Amino acid sequence: MTTTADYSEKIPNNVQLHEDRRLQRALESWQPNFLQWWQTMGPTLPTQDVYLRTAVNVGRDGWAQFGHVPMPEYRWGIFLAERDPGRTIGFGEHKGEPVWAKVPGEYRAELQRLIVIQGDTEPASVEQQRNLGATAPSLYDLRNLFQVNVEEGRHLWAMVYLLHAYFGREGREEAEELLHRNSGSEDSPRILGAFNEETPDWLSFYMFTYFTDRDGKYQLGTLKESAFDPLSRTCEFMLKEEAHHMMVGTTGVDRVVQRTVEVMRSHDTDDVAGLGAIPLTTIQKYLNFHYSVSLDLFGGETSTNVANYYTAGLKGRWLEDRRKDDHKLASDSIMVDSLTEEAGGGLSIGQTEVSALVGLNTDLRREYIADCQGGVKRWNRILEEGGVKQRLKLPHIAFNRKVGAFAGIEATPDGEQISAEEWQRREGQWLPTDVDKTYVRSLMRPVHERGKIAAWIAPPRNGINGQPFDFDYVHLA
Ligand SMILES: [Fe+2]
Ligand SMILES: [Fe+2]
Repeated sequence: MTTTADYSEKIPNNVQLHEDRRLQRALESWQPNFLQWWQTMGPTLPTQDVYLRTAVNVGRDGWAQFGHVPMPEYRWGIFLAERDPGRTIGFGEHKGEPVWAKVPGEYRAELQRLIVIQGDTEPASVEQQRNLGATAPSLYDLRNLFQVNVEEGRHLWAMVYLLHAYFGREGREEAEELLHRNSGSEDSPRILGAFNEETPDWLSFYMFTYFTDRDGKYQLGTLKESAFDPLSRTCEFMLKEEAHHMMVGTTGVDRVVQRTVEVMRSHDTDDVAGLGAIPLTTIQKYLNFHYSVSLDLFGGETSTNVANYYTAGLKGRWLEDRRKDDHKLASDSIMVDSLTEEAGGGLSIGQTEVSALVGLNTDLRREYIADCQGGVKRWNRILEEGGVKQRLKLPHIAFNRKVGAFAGIEATPDGEQISAEEWQRREGQWLPTDVDKTYVRSLMRPVHERGKIAAWIAPPRNGINGQPFDFDYVHLA
């Protein structure tokens, strides 16, 4: 195992692929199918080349190189973080034992399922974002979109490598399926709900990369703890790439809020629709939507499957080694969100105590929520510094949920339970309406001129890789 990627191979890799001819041939026969998928389901805007980063080394410094690359020639490869020869299992019933270099037969089905679910989200987001290039607010943003897209493509490679290398014929079949399911498809949709939603405009894109890519960060964080070492090492490197996606989301929303504040101030009005900016109320509705569908990605509040994954050592907790407990959790408990029966017979939003193992989804979701608060805090700082009194906030955990304890009820963003009729009447105050979406879409006109930016968003503070904002990030075809 070396840290440097071998680019002389058909499939760049740092896993000594040439030493396993069978595996190499299998992956090389999947490669044209991937490229075919990229051609038909990937970005639709034709370009000559894009200023992209490509992974060249998984070591601590200098892991990527930047340069103008024609998109179809991007070198998608297989990169695992360095192996730690002394690594032991950090949690569950095998805690303290050496990690696994191969898949134990007894956990094969579960591990395969976890990898397929993770793998399915990667190409899904490329599909969701495929038309955004046509309306990019600047060349800088366009470049970031394509960077996110090629890396999600690479994350698909990361999961497909594991399926091919460790799961035999079934793994190869699953790898094919990952290219056949499509986001929003009637017949074969992507596995998870949020990945079948459209990303029709750039405000959605920033919210998606903030909230939904962040879900990815937390899922990868739990898989990075896995006793199955190749999965752990793959996820560790993916997390490195993922950080950029979230930066795109965080600063994207920053810049939208910034611009809205500027327009509010210069026209002394909250009503910036018609003045070319996005009203804060609309930003809040988009936030409500993306946050609530992302909460659903963490699954039910309780799960015996997830308890079993943990005990088996397949999937750990966020920052497992920083937790100050026995890492087995057999006798611990946790309060999880729930609907609790009232004396009068009704159901109210409350909490129930369950065993810590069964409540692991809740534990992970709480870590995620705390992280999301960070974004809201920084966006509110922009509002405060701009002298605007309104604030953004995360809606209540029971708001607009389709999965888990609150799937069967309706609640306001403040967490007040309401009837289905009232929800229908008031939904448009909290979630983007057709009018909101049409307005946002009306602003989405491409700005493909170097150094220029659309009127609804502020320019970024920094460019990419030390380049200025007016750099020629993309050469259009
Ligand atoms: Fe990803
Ligand atoms: Fe991502």
